[in-house]
Amino acid sequence: MSRNICKDGYSIHTNALPEILGQNLWAKSHSEAQTVLKPAGIGRTDGLQIKQSVRSDKISWIDDTDATGAEWIKWAAELQSGFNSSLFLGLFSFESHYALYNPGCFYRTHVDAFQGQKNRILSIIIYLNHDWLKEDGGELVLYADARVPLKVRPEFGTVVAFLSEEVPHEVLVTHRHRYSIAGWFCANRSNPMI
Ligand code: OGA
Ligand code: MN
Repeated sequence: MSRNICKDGYSIHTNALPEILGQNLWAKSHSEAQTVLKPAGIGRTDGLQIKQSVRSDKISWIDDTDATGAEWIKWAAELQSGFNSSLFLGLFSFESHYALYNPGCFYRTHVDAFQGQKNRILSIIIYLNHDWLKEDGGELVLYADARVPLKVRPEFGTVVAFLSEEVPHEVLVTHRHRYSIAGWFCANRSNPMI
């Protein structure tokens, strides 16, 4: 995974989730959808704006208070130490949320950084949808090279990682309920070198 990120700024893997973890995240993302998903905002929680013209997904932040969340965070921590030893990225913390895009939802082209802050370094997205068809839409489009947009179908088990601030990306309008997890490995903001 890391070699591609160095060279291209992104890396895409199909069937990359451990089987039991994938099943548990599938179940949890669907049960969260019934109860706790909230409209996603743009920017930090202290001036959270809900701008439906930019993104229209619903999200729920993940913590380790339930078994599935704990298992997911442990898996992400293993990835984090792998990235740190192969890429020397100095990744320090991790934050992630479930996301649901209902039919008609999208997320316009953006980079994953908050204005004036440089702490999100590496983004990962995992997808939790079985048998996603071309006509279902909802592809992630990566503009690592603006001349060659790269479309990724949000198929179950696919994991995409990319440099948060370097790679503009968008989610095209989905025609089906689209379940995913978005996560960010962050640098220690008190480190003056970053
Ligand atoms: C995001 C994002 C992409 C996707 O949540 O910032 O870009 O494919 N998600 O869900
Ligand atoms: Mn994004």
